[in-house]
Amino acid sequence: MERIPIIRPYIQYDDIAQDMEAIFNSGILTKGKHGLAFRESFADYTGAQFVSLTTSATTALSLALKIYGVEKGDEVAVADFSFPASVNVIEDIGAKPIFIDVDPHTFNMDPQRLISHITRHTKAVIFVDSFGNASGLSEIKRICEQHKLPLIEDAACAIGSSENNKRCGSIADIACFSFHPRKLLTTGEGGAITTNHRDIANRIEIKLNHGAILDAERKLDFVDFGYNYRMTEMQALMGISQLRKLDAIIEDRRRIKEKYVRALKPLGFYAQACAPNTEHNVQSVVFCVPEGVERNGLIQYLVSHNIESTLGTYSLSNCSFYKHKYQKPQKTSLILEENTITLPCYEDVNVDRVINVIKLFIN
Ligand SMILES: Cc1ncc(COP(=O)(O)O)c(C=O)c1O
Repeated sequence: MERIPIIRPYIQYDDIAQDMEAIFNSGILTKGKHGLAFRESFADYTGAQFVSLTTSATTALSLALKIYGVEKGDEVAVADFSFPASVNVIEDIGAKPIFIDVDPHTFNMDPQRLISHITRHTKAVIFVDSFGNASGLSEIKRICEQHKLPLIEDAACAIGSSENNKRCGSIADIACFSFHPRKLLTTGEGGAITTNHRDIANRIEIKLNHGAILDAERKLDFVDFGYNYRMTEMQALMGISQLRKLDAIIEDRRRIKEKYVRALKPLGFYAQACAPNTEHNVQSVVFCVPEGVERNGLIQYLVSHNIESTLGTYSLSNCSFYKHKYQKPQKTSLILEENTITLPCYEDVNVDRVINVIKLFIN
C-alpha cells in the first residue's frame, strides 16, 4: 500500500529550470534580482508595504524582538499552543516568556487572558496564527494598541490567510513567515518578515545584512551590529514560482478539509474553528479527537496502514525545558496538545483511504 505523507511540497522543477540555470551561469547567488522580485511579489500578495527575506521564521521572529529592543528581564507574551520556535526566540534573548492560553475552538491566543497578563514589564506580544488561522488577530492588535505594545505575528503558517479581508502580513506591526517544506510555499528553508512601518523595515534590512548600509559612494558602512539572515537567489526563485500558484493550492486544500469535516464530524471529531471574518489557508487540517478516542493510538493505527499523521502542535509551557524553568502550565493548550491530530493534506491525497482507516479504528 502506497505511503500517504502528511504533506507534499507544491514544487515543480520544470517551472524554474531555465531561471535556475541562468542563476548558476551568472554566479549571482545572493542579493540579486530574484530576491528583489520575490520581495515585491510577496508585498503585492500580502498587502504589506515592506518585505525582507530571511533564512527562516525563527530568525525573522528573533529579529523582530531585537528591533523592538526586547532584552534581558523584559516580559514577552506568547500564545501557548505553537511550535517551540515561537518561545525559543524570547528565551534566547534572556527575556521572560509569559504563556497565554488559547481559545479551545480557534486554538489562538485568548484576548482576555492576554489582558490579565500584561504588566509594566511586558515589552511585546507574539500572536500565533495557529495552523494559519488568523482568528482574533485584530482583537489582539486592538489590545496591543491600547497598551502601546508592539504586536509581532508568528505567521509562520499563515501565508494567504486573512482577517477582515486583509491578508496576514499587513495587519500586525511585524509578521514573520516560514518557507519550511511543511508550509504551503517552500524554499527549502527560508522566511519573510513584513511590516507597514518604513523605519522598522529599514532597521530590519540593516540588521539582517550584518548591520551594514551602502553609503553615498556605495561603500559598506556598518552602522549597527547585525547578522547574516539573508535568503539566496535560488530560494527566492522557488518562492516566486510558488507564490503564483498559491491561491489554487489554497482552494484545493479547502476542498480537502471540507471532505474530512463531512466524514469525521458525525464521528465526533471537531475541526479547528475559524471566525466568519477570516479566510483560512488550511496550512494544516487539524481535528480534536472525540472523547474516549486515544489520539496516540489513532496515530499509531494510521502508521500501521502506511498513513502519516501527527499531533496538532505543542503546549509551550509543557515542553520539558519551559515546564521545569517556569512551572506555568496552561490548561487548554495542554488539552489540545494531547487531543489534536493533523491529517494528510496535499493535492492528490487519498482522503477516502485516510477516512476509512480512521473509521476502522473508531469502530
Ligand atoms: C508557528 C511556528 N512558528 C515558527 C516556526 C519556525 O519556522 P522555521 O522553521 O521557518 O524557523 C514554525 C515551524 O514549523 C511554526 O509552525
